[in-house]
Amino acid sequence: AGVASRRAAEKLIAEGRVTVNGELVTEPGSKADLSRDRIAVDGREIQGEEEKVYFLLNKPKGYISTARDERGRKTVLDLLAEVPERIYPIGRLDNATEGLLLLTNDGELMNALLHPKYEVHKTYLARLRGIPTEAELGRLREGIALEDGMTAPARARLVEQSPERNESRVEIIIHEGRNRQVRRMCSAIGHEVTALKRTEFAGLSLSGTARGHYRRLTDTELAHLKTLAGMRL
Ligand code: URA
Repeated sequence: AGVASRRAAEKLIAEGRVTVNGELVTEPGSKADLSRDRIAVDGREIQGEEEKVYFLLNKPKGYISTARDERGRKTVLDLLAEVPERIYPIGRLDNATEGLLLLTNDGELMNALLHPKYEVHKTYLARLRGIPTEAELGRLREGIALEDGMTAPARARLVEQSPERNESRVEIIIHEGRNRQVRRMCSAIGHEVTALKRTEFAGLSLSGTARGHYRRLTDTELAHLKTLAGMRL
């Protein structure tokens, strides 16, 4: 019903936050039918299937991408406060990373786009300390050893260099989604990332959406994502 992913729903049940017709249910296999039973989470009744909504956000720095934060930090959902549906970000960007983040209440599309088998491409623009050599960029292209294993081959190109400031901009395209992956890849070739922006995700681009703003996906963009994810249109 757009409340949570399957895994998160199992957790809600195990935590004793779900009732069916007023009775607490903690058994994972229990049966209930939304058309006949009253199902509530934290005392709030579920209203059946929500309309599916899809947004593209240009996330600024200083917002975390989890839906709720126990430490009270600003989350990306604060930027979409007017959206009434229960949406979630598709994947994450670090607090200090800006750029393209999709949000939806369509769990099926979210899971598919995050699944490694679809190899969804993400393009990043990284500002680096120092200027990487071709050999160093070559290591990113081949795949590089990180503490959680080798990365898949990436695309990497030098976009801009400033010897006076001893910094550069590099575009990096990856299809994995490991924690702090781009920062760790660049550190591994000896260049700290001093700013990071995601400019594209799954072929969608940020263009036209200002920092801190969001918009609905167009029908064409949605059809493109569903096709990528092997879903019926
Ligand atoms: N890689 C990172 O290091 N950080 C992000 O936020 C995204 C990709």
